[in-house]
Amino acid sequence: MKLGIICGSHRKDSQSLKVAKYIEKSFKNLLNKPSYLLDLGENPIPLWDESIWQGNPDWKKIWDPISAELEGCNAFVFVVPDWSGMAPAGVKNFFLMCGGASGVLAHKPSLLVGVSSSRGGSYPIAELRMSSYKNTRVCHIPEHLIIRDVEQMFLDEVASDEDEKYIRGRVDYSLKVLEKYAEGLDVVRNSGVLDAKNYPFGM
Ligand SMILES: Cc1cc2nc3c(=O)[nH]c(=O)nc-3n(C[C@H](O)[C@H](O)[C@H](O)COP(=O)(O)O)c2cc1C
Repeated sequence: MKLGIICGSHRKDSQSLKVAKYIEKSFKNLLNKPSYLLDLGENPIPLWDESIWQGNPDWKKIWDPISAELEGCNAFVFVVPDWSGMAPAGVKNFFLMCGGASGVLAHKPSLLVGVSSSRGGSYPIAELRMSSYKNTRVCHIPEHLIIRDVEQMFLDEVASDEDEKYIRGRVDYSLKVLEKYAEGLDVVRNSGVLDAKNYPFGM
């Protein structure tokens, strides 16, 4: 298994990046397998435009290295902050890049992680469950995480209180579940039934 972790905040040194790094470390401690972290704060992807369909070389320079990394991953974690009750525009843009024939996320499991500095964090999860999978064919698993009061979380090696202890346990549990979905969906992708040529877009 190789895990791709997408930090969906396009602020530099965001709280979401702190969460993404914590998840990456937990994954290493737990499963000791490779990972790839893409921070949309440090690596902003320009807004999609249709020259990408004409093979614009500027786009190839930006997207091909990212696409190759994503291709090599068979499970994903999306860390998505709650911005005005929405997923940030950069996250939606990222899903546009991964749609249709690209197939880099297709039939691979994803763990969604909502982030909020207060008591929010659920709206981006609901939004991505509703709208991000159609052309990407990404499979958001039923488990998800919401990291609330994020500024107080993951500051030290050990949890600061019972709430954080619970979340840390839940991160480990969710990663173990994600690993099993990765094994299960490897079977689907290798089964020979998928037909992206005739059915490149979802209905
Ligand atoms: C433009 C913007 C809008 C935000 N709106 C909300 C919100 O509606 N609800 C909420 O719980 N937090 C909101 N926040 C706070 C984020 O949850 C907080 O910044 C948190 O640290 C995650 O964002 P980050 O990863 O970009 O740091 C907002 C933050 C920004 C930058």
